[in-house]
Amino acid sequence: MNNLREIKLEEMNIDPFKDFRNWALVTAYTNGKHNTMTIGWGGLGVLWRKNVATVYIRENRYTYEFIEKADYFTISFYEEKYKPALTVYGTKSGRDIDKDQETGFTPVILDGAVTYEEASLTIVCKKLYQAKLEPEFYLNEVAAEFYKLNDDGTRHHLYIGEIIKILKK
Ligand SMILES: Cc1cc2nc3c(=O)[nH]c(=O)nc-3n(C[C@H](O)[C@H](O)[C@H](O)COP(=O)(O)O)c2cc1C
Repeated sequence: MNNLREIKLEEMNIDPFKDFRNWALVTAYTNGKHNTMTIGWGGLGVLWRKNVATVYIRENRYTYEFIEKADYFTISFYEEKYKPALTVYGTKSGRDIDKDQETGFTPVILDGAVTYEEASLTIVCKKLYQAKLEPEFYLNEVAAEFYKLNDDGTRHHLYIGEIIKILKK
């Protein structure tokens, strides 16, 4: 049992331009373990006649190791009061600490995916496509400029997931 109820897509009150900029969490679950990190980039839209969500995960994140293998991932959104917790998820690595323990967030185990009791809204995605954003395909200097800052040679990978469930607190 948990405090989340399923809502319809039409009831989802998300402004992707605002709400990703205000931070969200991505959680990926594989082999009985999950890892969570903060994201500021993401998208919602339509592809292959499906409702989809897209996230961009740099390959040096611990979460990358999970989302690469996972069948599902969740994107969850939070009230402003949880910003300190989202700062932990966005500045510390699951390689070094148990972030759930540090934030006190309560994981909610779904079918093949994980979110948190604290989330105002969770989008459950079934992975449809994943790919590296290859430097040879950058068409202008924007991406190249982005990676010049503290370049460690790692790049972002995009993950497109079909929105299969939306859960609200
Ligand atoms: C506000 C904010 C937004 C972020 N957005 C992204 C993002 O969209 N993609 C990404 O790869 N990393 C992003 N990060 C960085 C990761 O959240 C951060 O590196 C995190 O510590 C990775 O944790 P992990 O190693 O446990 O996966 C963001 C960090 C913050 C604070």
